[in-house]
Amino acid sequence: MTACIVGWSHGKFGKLDGETSESLIVKAASEAIAHAGIEPKDVDVIYVGNMNGGFVRQEFHSSLPLQTHPDLRFKPSTRVENACATGSAAIHMGLNTLGAGKARFVLVVGVEKMTELNSAQAGEVLIKASYVAEEAAIEAGFAGIFGKITSAYFQRYGDKSDALAKIAVKAHKNGAKNPFAHFQKEFAYEFCRTPSDKNPFVAGPLKRTDCSPVTDGAAAVVLTDVGTALGMKQAIAFRAAQHVNDFLPMSKRDIIKFEGPALAWKRALGEARLDLLDLSFVESHDCFTSAELIEYEAMGLTAPGEGEKAIHEGWVEREGKLPVNVSGGLKAKGHPVGATGVSMHVMAAMQLSGTAPGGLQLPKAKLGGIFNMGGAAVANYVSILEPLR
Ligand code: COA
Repeated sequence: MTACIVGWSHGKFGKLDGETSESLIVKAASEAIAHAGIEPKDVDVIYVGNMNGGFVRQEFHSSLPLQTHPDLRFKPSTRVENACATGSAAIHMGLNTLGAGKARFVLVVGVEKMTELNSAQAGEVLIKASYVAEEAAIEAGFAGIFGKITSAYFQRYGDKSDALAKIAVKAHKNGAKNPFAHFQKEFAYEFCRTPSDKNPFVAGPLKRTDCSPVTDGAAAVVLTDVGTALGMKQAIAFRAAQHVNDFLPMSKRDIIKFEGPALAWKRALGEARLDLLDLSFVESHDCFTSAELIEYEAMGLTAPGEGEKAIHEGWVEREGKLPVNVSGGLKAKGHPVGATGVSMHVMAAMQLSGTAPGGLQLPKAKLGGIFNMGGAAVANYVSILEPLR
């Protein structure tokens, strides 16, 4: 263990008219600093996770957290980007900075303001996270990429639309308990399973209810070393933090194998000296329901091609042997790209400190796993967290 999360904040995710990435950053930063019980002057280094790529005209974000308080002026601050894993990438920069002894307190803010564009325009931005030279002509934005992956999976292992619909139902059931979620209502299985005017096909076998939405939001954490964390009011330790990048072109990989995610999980569980089922819960990157299905296989919960078992048998339900996405996941909580990785760490920290709001709290939460993915299984981050004491 080398570092801990000692403060956090999470705003409501959704279509936040009237907010800007600046206002979201300032709110998240000031709340996380206050939650840690430190003063702005105590922050040594800042990282801002923001993918942007054209969602908003303001591209240069690194100094926006300085608007939080005059004492943040002149602090070193850097914007970090790694597609949909931007939030975890920013946290990893914080961990590296602490590991190098270059800071005592690091503030990490993840933010994205996506809804100034409509879904088609947002798709145009998101497709830039593919291998543009070969993949940018795929229709329907990033949903098109996962439509292709899902079709390939169905071709090899059979039609898994029942399992995808059940994953969507689970996400919305969990999201209904999460006051921070974009969608806080349950969806019936028949609605998710059946194409309709309200649930049309978006790309390949993926329907609207198989996709994470276009969302605004921000979350923040304060990181410090273990020695300092021992004196803080709350401390959630990193038992493992691993990062694996794979080739970008899908043509260079067996795309339904998710080898990068599998390696990140293997290394993280090895670093933590744990088996997958030692974890109390996992927050996994369900940008599409088929991503979650394949991630069951990548994390080692089932053999390749058998991911559906995990949902059909109820293993990944809130009451199951390995609850996955009790927060509602990207599907229901929303996926403001640069904020997502930070949000996953905040959701896990809340569970592990017993402070998740209302019905969201799990009765037993001792070890949490997080998998955050940039692109189609390209930038892969796994964290394993536990309370420091
Ligand atoms: N899941 C469930 N319902 C959704 C939804 C989603 N992902 N997205 C929108 N809706 C709902 C809206 O709330 C709205 O409901 P209402 O009629 O009751 O008000 C309705 O569907 C229409 O919303 P709209 O925004 O017009 O839908 P859309 O068809 O333009 O967009 C998607 C839907 C799925 C295409 C869009 O959310 C999308 O592009 N998602 C993928 C984002 C992505 O690629 N992220 C990166 C992943 S790596």
